[in-house]
Amino acid sequence: MKHYPKTSKYDNSWIEANWMGPNPLILLEELMEHMDLRPGMKVLDMGCGKGITSVFLAKEYGVTVFANDLWISASDNLKRFIKAGVQDLVFPIHAEAHALPYADEFFDAAISIDSYEYYGTDEVYFPNTYSKLVKPGGQFGIVVPGLAREYEAGCPDTLRELWVGEMFCFHSAAWWRRHWGKTGIVDVTACYDIEDPKGIWRPWADWSLENFDKEWGDGGDFDTKFLDADTNGDAALVVMAARKKSS
Ligand SMILES: C[S@@+](CC[C@H](N)C(=O)[O-])C[C@H]1O[C@@H](n2cnc3c(N)ncnc32)[C@H](O)[C@@H]1O
Repeated sequence: MKHYPKTSKYDNSWIEANWMGPNPLILLEELMEHMDLRPGMKVLDMGCGKGITSVFLAKEYGVTVFANDLWISASDNLKRFIKAGVQDLVFPIHAEAHALPYADEFFDAAISIDSYEYYGTDEVYFPNTYSKLVKPGGQFGIVVPGLAREYEAGCPDTLRELWVGEMFCFHSAAWWRRHWGKTGIVDVTACYDIEDPKGIWRPWADWSLENFDKEWGDGGDFDTKFLDADTNGDAALVVMAARKKSS
């Protein structure tokens, strides 16, 4: 598997204690190859979960982060940010994606790791809501679980039994490129499947088998079943970066 030098500096037990999907720091480090963050920039970390990506952004790039999440409370995240020593740079916010408390064009950049797929496949979410948060010339970046290609039926035959609920938001890189590109609001600067998605995904699936039920209730075997059922190599992790046009 590709080496991620920044991620490798972080204690794996801290990552595992706080991740909510396939290694978020690896996904973020991959995305950062296509974004240009500088100290002092204001960055939205949308769907930050327990905020490890927010800690990473503050420590590695010196940016100010608004760590926005729905399922995890701002108070819990603040404790984590204090413990990580980044409380002056990272601000925890509890808000739903359609009721965000930020001014238009407030952010220099908005990133989202394994979260945007939950609300962002809607045709109007990007043009009417999300794109407005970032200033002209600003940057967007997402990494989402998806598919290596689109299927008429929505999913490959091998995965049909596992295609429930939110799985319908899994799409290909080409789909995502068109989804943002067609709005004319941004230039998509990168859009591709991350190398070795299962190598990145599997440790999270293994961890979930042991730990997911204890923390979240039922469902700890889902990712293992999903990766095992995917005998055609359809599971993907899609990386997309874009820059907002100036006018
Ligand atoms: C799979 S978790 C990933 C969390 C974190 N980025 C990570 O990788 O560990 C998805 C996150 O998206 C957030 N999310 C889902 N739907 C949302 C919504 N409608 N508004 C805001 N956040 C949402 C959840 O709160 C959750 O923390």
